[in-house]
Formats: sequence, C-alpha cells, structure tokens
Amino acid sequence: MYIPTEVEKVLFTEEQIKERVAAMGAQITRDYAGKNPLFIGVLKGAAVFFSDLIRRVECSLEIEFLRASSYAGTNSTGEVTLDVSAVPDIKGRDVVLVEDIVDTARTLSVLKKYLLDMSPNSVKVACFLDKPSRRVVEGFSADYTGFEIDDLFVVGYGLDCDQKFRNLPYIGIYHG
Ligand code: IMP
Ligand code: MG
Repeated sequence: MYIPTEVEKVLFTEEQIKERVAAMGAQITRDYAGKNPLFIGVLKGAAVFFSDLIRRVECSLEIEFLRASSYAGTNSTGEVTLDVSAVPDIKGRDVVLVEDIVDTARTLSVLKKYLLDMSPNSVKVACFLDKPSRRVVEGFSADYTGFEIDDLFVVGYGLDCDQKFRNLPYIGIYHG
C-alpha cells in the first residue's frame, strides 16, 4: 500500500470507509424515497466521497458541483471563497450538499445560507468527516456524518494538503 512519508498513521482504512459510506447511502435512500434530490458536491475535496456516496443512494437523483476554498496548507484562512457559477435553479428542490469535512463550519454555513436564499424545498448536509472541537460557527452540524475525529489534520479520500494526497484511498493523519 502506498503511504507517503508525510502520512503518520492510517486513521480509517479503505474497508472502514466503504462500510460507513454504504450505511450513509442506505440512510439517505430511506429519507429521500420517492423524491428526486439534487446532490451538490463541494469541489475539490468532496469529489471522492461524492462519487462513492451517490452510487450507494438507491433513488432518482441529479448532481451538480460548486467550488469553495478556505484553507492554505494546514491553516484555515477564515475567508471563504465561493464559485457558485455552476449552481442551477434550486427553487423547490430537495438539496443534499456534500462536503468532505466540517471544521470551523465557516464554509458550510456560508454555502447553506446561499442555497437557502434560493427558496429550495429543503437543504441537508452530508459530510464525510467532522471535527466538532474546531467549531467557530456555534451550533452547526451536518445531517449525515461519516466519522467524527479529534483536532487532527488529515489527508486522503479527496482531502488535500496543498493539493496533494487526494488520491490516497484511506484517511491518513498528516504530519508536516
Ligand atoms: P471550514 O470552513 O473551516 O469548516 O473548512 C472546511 C474545509 O477546510 C474543508 O472543506 C476542507 O477543504 C478544509 N479542511 C479542514 N480540515 C481539513 C483537514 O484536516 N484536512 C484537509 N482539509 C481540511
Ligand atoms: Mg473542502
């Protein structure tokens, strides 16, 4: 298995991830039966989780992507940059916003508010990882969460450090 020197430890294996994502997909399938939700992935970090998750959701659905960034290296800059040019009209739609990780929750709270202003029927958030101890936006939580983790910087399964390590099939703890 390819483990770069910057990865200190594997936190979640490919097998553990597969099992958890399947359970999330099953829960979403139950919640959206008979509906046609629009899954919106937040690029680039959510790309890997997004493609695994949607293939575990067994109902009619559509997909879109938007782009957001707030990190430089392993530091949250606190400034959220959004490119929402690809967001379609979501009026009356049931939206599932898919993110890689909730950290301070600045990104997701800005995004959710932006989407709610477009009068959708509902907006729920599916997040692969959650670092509750890092929260800056009080009270923000995802509707579907893969795993809660401590205050660690992690890479792999779509998550990067300076654009690298997104290709690792597991979640690894990064050390600089
Ligand atoms: P937030 O706005 O602080 O919640 O930041 C969320 C974004 O920061 C995520 O979408 C990730 O792109 C990035 N991020 C936060 N923690 C990590 C991490 O441990 N590894 C890689 N990216 C992270
Ligand atoms: Mg991200």
